[in-house]
Amino acid sequence: MQHAGPPGKLIAFEGLDGSGQTTQAKLLTLWLDQRAGMKAHYTKEPTSGPIGTIIKRALLQPDHTKTAPELSYNPATLALLFAADRLDHLEREILPLLRRGTCVISDRYTISSLAYQSLELDPKWVRSINRYALSPDLTIFLNVPLKTCLDRIRNRHPQPELYENPATLQRVEHRYRQIIRALQRQRYRIEIVDGTPPPAEVHRAVVEATKKFFRKRRARPREDEDQIAALLKTPPLNPEEIRVHLAAG
Ligand code: TYD
Repeated sequence: MQHAGPPGKLIAFEGLDGSGQTTQAKLLTLWLDQRAGMKAHYTKEPTSGPIGTIIKRALLQPDHTKTAPELSYNPATLALLFAADRLDHLEREILPLLRRGTCVISDRYTISSLAYQSLELDPKWVRSINRYALSPDLTIFLNVPLKTCLDRIRNRHPQPELYENPATLQRVEHRYRQIIRALQRQRYRIEIVDGTPPPAEVHRAVVEATKKFFRKRRARPREDEDQIAALLKTPPLNPEEIRVHLAAG
């Protein structure tokens, strides 16, 4: 389904596990909502809804064939669950907000399915089960070397989740690169941001990428020019504000 044009914008964050997309998606939401004068809402996939809850349980137990066989799904079933969770997410949460003019910032979206699920499945099939998912207006990919992601994952939790192992993430990284190249050829709006520096620096780059997107929309009919002008003048959150926000969890 192509973007039907609800007034709110859908911005998706993508990256390897450990790339910092959750932190940056939350900081962008805060900046848009509390500084830049645009209503914004943070959300995440897999969701906390009924289908997302099944997925999260499966992700937590990478070796569940031994410990909890009822949590084990074959790759195609898991891919269908991710796609179903996404459509449910759209219906219940994302679309109503976009229709009210709220910007929705999604921590992972369709490209995650293309990068992770197509490791073991036909990419065309994965694309096809996701074809009813609304296209995002902008995708921000946080580019972080695999080794840094693995270090961050190890520091975050001792028990790795389903995809959180070096061999799998190396293949996911390769898939992301292929997908991004293909999307750039199709003029899909995707911005690559270096996610290696400290959070405040990455946030500045994310805000720049977001401003670039809104700058281009300025001349379009139906866009609120004053609102966009105000957003373009708003500086990013400063390092101290970010430190306080991160400390508050
Ligand atoms: P989670 O711990 O919720 O996210 P993160 O570690 O990024 O904060 O785990 C989400 C995992 O699910 C992550 O390994 C990527 C994977 N995933 C898919 O494989 N396909 C998808 O469509 C989505 C949304 C996530």
